[in-house]
Amino acid sequence: MAILVTGGAGYIGSHTCVELQNSGYDVVVYDNLSNSSEKSLERVEALTGKKVKFYKGDILDRDCLNKVFKENDIDACIHFAGLKAVGESVQKPWEYYENNISGTLTLVDVMRQNNCKNIIFSSSATVYGNPAQIPITEECPKGECTNPYGWTKSMLEQILSDMQKADDEWNVILLRYFNPIGAHPSGTMGENPNGIPNNLMPYITQVAVGKLPELGVFGNDYDTPDGTGVRDYIHVVDLANGHVKALKKIEDNAGLCIYNLGTGVGYSVLDIVKNFEKANDIKIPYQIKERRAGDIATCYSDATKAKEELGWVAKYGIEDMCRDSWNWQKNNPNGYES
Ligand code: NAD
Ligand code: UD1
Repeated sequence: MAILVTGGAGYIGSHTCVELQNSGYDVVVYDNLSNSSEKSLERVEALTGKKVKFYKGDILDRDCLNKVFKENDIDACIHFAGLKAVGESVQKPWEYYENNISGTLTLVDVMRQNNCKNIIFSSSATVYGNPAQIPITEECPKGECTNPYGWTKSMLEQILSDMQKADDEWNVILLRYFNPIGAHPSGTMGENPNGIPNNLMPYITQVAVGKLPELGVFGNDYDTPDGTGVRDYIHVVDLANGHVKALKKIEDNAGLCIYNLGTGVGYSVLDIVKNFEKANDIKIPYQIKERRAGDIATCYSDATKAKEELGWVAKYGIEDMCRDSWNWQKNNPNGYES
């Protein structure tokens, strides 16, 4: 029995492969490498001492997916593959709907034809839109997404839920990630963004390494303790372990389940800057800028449900996240191309 990890060469996928292999699972990675490097999988192998079976393929490619199912005894799929750049999705909505939605429809069709009906899907706190309540529980209604990327997550949640309701042989677990940051504590694996990063932590680490002059803080007039945006940052290794716990839930016939994966603690942009400076003894110059379109003031989780039903809690704190993000960046200033 093996676990198919689509998008397994990417940031969260590669960290999840480490935790899966360390928990005794066989892993088959399927990735078109559109936003990743195969080198991440060499790092997984170095850390776990086990080979990763890798197929370079696209989730839109039905024949290639079928080949994977014919050649392997796949028990469940953890589905990370997708495009994720919010700004780009506004510029290229068709590409995002085609890749994320058509790709997932193709994947689940091939899965059911091969009698594999267990899927864990990477969703996002973005589906809550401007959340109706803080902290956000899974009961909180889904909201209006502000971009096509967010809509792909919201729509795919609906599609997978409807499929499970129509056929209860399906086990569907929707994991809503809050803000993943950090890197493997070994410093050998981490996030490898293309171009200038959009997200806060990779931007900070690139300022720290001298690639970018200063951080722009997007607004200091929000209704938050220091006026800057508050988010629930979660260490990528904790997130990876959430998937291992979700697999156990699938083995117990989960049906349809939805979980927030967050720490339940909110930090502002300036909190992150201060914690990064303290953990790594590096100054991060910053300037207050205009608010970024589409941003909300505050977003953090209530992760009680994942604790109660999966036995999962985030173990790493903000200091670990800041230290590990920097450890990865300083050892690999050009990501996997270093
Ligand atoms: P990532 O870009 O590092 O990983 C995604 C992987 O999918 C990449 O390796 C890419 O090459 C691959 N891929 C993309 N389209 C593909 C296709 N058509 N066929 C095969 N492979 C394809 O991103 P990540 O941060 O690891 O995110 C993983 C998943 O989690 C994504 O679905 C993302 O939307 C979701 N997510 C991420 C975050 C975050 O902040 N990183 C937050 C919430 C949800
Ligand atoms: C981003 C995505 C969201 C995704 C989430 C999970 C965007 C617009 N949204 O959310 O779809 O679900 O990640 O990871 O990309 N900030 C700055 N300066 C910067 C970068 C960010 O001040 O250079 C601020 C933002 O305004 C925000 C906070 O830092 O308050 C976090 O931003 P970011 O890392 O981009 O994540 P989100 O916007 O929460």
